[in-house]
Amino acid sequence: MSNVDLTAKIPNNVDLGHDKRLLRALEQWQPDYLRWWREMGPSDFLEREVYLRTAVAVDAAGWAHFDYVKMPDYRWGIFLADPVGDRRIGFGDHVGEPVWQVLPGEHRNALRRLVVTQGDTEPASVEQQRLLGHTAPSLYDLRNLFQVNVEEGRHLWAMVYLLHSFFGRDGREEAEALLERRSGDKDRPRILGAFNQPIENWLDFFMFTMFTDRDGKYQLLALAESGFDPLSRTTRFMLTEEAHHMFVGETGVERIVVRTAELMKAEPNEDVRTQGGIDLATIQRHLNLWFALSLDLFGGEISSNAASFFAAGLKGRHHEERYDDHAALGGHYAMPVVADGKLGEQQVPLRNAMNEVLRDAYVDDCQRAVDRWNRRLEEAGVSERLYLASKRFYRQIGLYAGLPFDPEGRLQEAAEWDRRRSEWLPSAADREYIQGLMHPVYERGKIASWIAPAKGLKGLPFDHEYVRLG
Ligand SMILES: [Fe+2]
Ligand SMILES: [Fe+2]
Repeated sequence: MSNVDLTAKIPNNVDLGHDKRLLRALEQWQPDYLRWWREMGPSDFLEREVYLRTAVAVDAAGWAHFDYVKMPDYRWGIFLADPVGDRRIGFGDHVGEPVWQVLPGEHRNALRRLVVTQGDTEPASVEQQRLLGHTAPSLYDLRNLFQVNVEEGRHLWAMVYLLHSFFGRDGREEAEALLERRSGDKDRPRILGAFNQPIENWLDFFMFTMFTDRDGKYQLLALAESGFDPLSRTTRFMLTEEAHHMFVGETGVERIVVRTAELMKAEPNEDVRTQGGIDLATIQRHLNLWFALSLDLFGGEISSNAASFFAAGLKGRHHEERYDDHAALGGHYAMPVVADGKLGEQQVPLRNAMNEVLRDAYVDDCQRAVDRWNRRLEEAGVSERLYLASKRFYRQIGLYAGLPFDPEGRLQEAAEWDRRRSEWLPSAADREYIQGLMHPVYERGKIASWIAPAKGLKGLPFDHEYVRLG
């Protein structure tokens, strides 16, 4: 087990003290990071004490240490999962060869692109969420928001460590650029679409942490397989933190669903909005939006980039060990494609379908959560159900981009699609209604009208003072 040196200026378990050049470079980046945090991190609350989890070691006992911390004093640092002895490349053309501890020169550009793309999402989500503290439905939720925010900040550190350690001068420039792009900015946007979308309200936030953070989980799982061992170890530790973000999203939506069901039963017309709740149709429209935006993050259905990342041993499948054939040279993926305005099927060589293989695993995981929400509806005696739209609905990237598929995956006339758009996606009126519900509830144990309380955290009750505002 490797301990984290928390007394160092940059807490780490990578022996930074012994690499003066790297230490100096990171110490120069640190004030720029803190400036970014103060400018683009959570608006206000920086002087408040928040009951936060901080890693003090990477083993099971040490990675989740809870205490009250002011966010700017959070110990952001560099933590890698412990090395695996004699680790071998698990897939592609180099199966069975020892993993690389130094950057393989021929894969330098591809790996930089993977690291920068992942790294860019981390500060982006903090920027997207920066105003939400002003409308938190409870102190418990306020604390969870801040926990997610500080950990996304740490994930940025994780990627910047790789850039500084292995990519020389262009790595340092990329690390600076990660602090310069801005979510939603016209001139210098973040790299990926979903990370430029506004997160205006807490329904968006819970959908984002449910669906978009879950894309992150699958990208990290694929990178954890990488033959570039420092990337694998970094992402493996990030996954332990990421699990909480998805918990926040999945249980957040679940608590909204529970409250909605309760309000439906409380009124003869099942009118939820007159009682200050969020009706199921509005929840479904937000689910459709964030699911589609998140599906786009996996990239094109047929991808030669994905094929070469796999061949080279840079990015694998999630849990590669669960597959029998690690070369993936023989198989095909039966891909639904559009030709002459009709949906048909094309046999795509498996390596070129790696994005789709990962996307399918993601969809299964999402379905598990939707099933869980539907069980809450069933228990409450409500007959309506939530569902996942087709992978083809409202896509902006890949084979189905811009095509008028309905949520069931059927191709519609464009005019018909436009006419029904507000049935399927949040309308301006929906957003206005939700915005009207967004009032902060900062009193201990109290909760907003549109969401059910939670169990509490770490054995503490829901009415614990998770953020000290007084
Ligand atoms: Fe993250
Ligand atoms: Fe996350």
